[in-house]
Amino acid sequence: MSGVALDHVSKQFGSVRGVEDVHIDIRPGEFFTFLGPSGCGKTTTLRMIAGFYYPTSGRIRFGNQDVTTLPPNKRNTGMVFQNYALFPHMSVFENIAFGLEVRKLPKSEIRDKVERALKLVHLEGYGNRRIDQLSGGQQQRVALARALVIEPQILLLDEPLSNLDAKLREETRFEIKRLQLELGITTIYVTHDQAEAMSMSDRIMVMQNGVVQQIGTPEDIYHRPLNRFVASFIGETNLWEGTVVGIEGDEVRVEIAPGLVLSGYLNNASPQCQIRRGEKLAVSVRPESVQEADPEKADAANVVTGSVIISEFTGATVHYISEAAGNRLRATFVNQGHRVKQRGEELSLLIPKESIYFVG
Ligand SMILES: Nc1ncnc2c1ncn2[C@@H]1O[C@H](COP(=O)(O)OP(=O)(O)OP(=O)(O)O)[C@@H](O)[C@H]1O
Ligand SMILES: [Mg+2]
Repeated sequence: MSGVALDHVSKQFGSVRGVEDVHIDIRPGEFFTFLGPSGCGKTTTLRMIAGFYYPTSGRIRFGNQDVTTLPPNKRNTGMVFQNYALFPHMSVFENIAFGLEVRKLPKSEIRDKVERALKLVHLEGYGNRRIDQLSGGQQQRVALARALVIEPQILLLDEPLSNLDAKLREETRFEIKRLQLELGITTIYVTHDQAEAMSMSDRIMVMQNGVVQQIGTPEDIYHRPLNRFVASFIGETNLWEGTVVGIEGDEVRVEIAPGLVLSGYLNNASPQCQIRRGEKLAVSVRPESVQEADPEKADAANVVTGSVIISEFTGATVHYISEAAGNRLRATFVNQGHRVKQRGEELSLLIPKESIYFVG
């Protein structure tokens, strides 16, 4: 097993920027995810690791081996493509066996390995089916078996769940994670779905327009986003523009709107954020960290009183969107059986100081 290092890798397609200056060190056995909106450069980066594209500049290493210009068949990576890329007219068995036949393994060994791969993805007995006789989820698992059967050092998965329905997505998500842990294989996973990335990954690289925005654990990225893009792309958040109006000790006061001033801690700020009087910055507050305030204490610090615009009852939670001083405020409470407030009712919310995070 080996790790994967990208050393200042860029890829230019003529005048189009694919990705720029990607610098990462993926550890052996790590589950590492590329996350970002469509066109941000996820597939391009993955294809360079697989060898289907060569970088315009920079180097790629697997462990100590420089593979920058090594062709794909010499890299020992297993890849699941964004559209599966299965051979529709061939059987499940033939699809999975393909990579082993290219490697000219003996027939009996091929049979054993394919059987084992089918078992791994819970498709025993499906070997003779044609691909076009399978459901989307089953095809998905064939693509995964085909990537795993060659016993790759590195598993590359490009949006492997994108064609599945919600329930199957969740099951297959769990399945992939189980396989990855069982085989201990270094895995690079591509998705634009932040919930998928958060729940599966050891670390996530967030990208936008070909540029890396942040690399970190799901908790890092959720709690300590480096910039506005990361704060709003990962999970739900309240993101308000404001101006620093006071700094006292370890506390910072930020004015969001006339009459709406919030206090937070100096330490809860992204390194890219300048905290000086008069400086403009963004304040990020996760909806689940907002609390319902005692209406008697509506004047207390960080209590915002507004009126309900939307209330949503999901059973497990209650979501509110309220408006105060021209700003929208989202809050999510665990359902404790209290009456759900309706549109137009007054709602006082406490934004705990420690839940405020400043982004530059
Ligand atoms: N072969 C190519 N020739 C020219 N431009 C390309 C090529 N492949 C990708 N690009 C461009 O590079 C950028 C990154 O594309 P990429 O396919 O890596 O995005 P992505 O993050 O995988 O998006 P998606 O989520 O839609 O799959 C885009 O602007 C895209 O148009
Ligand atoms: Mg893609």
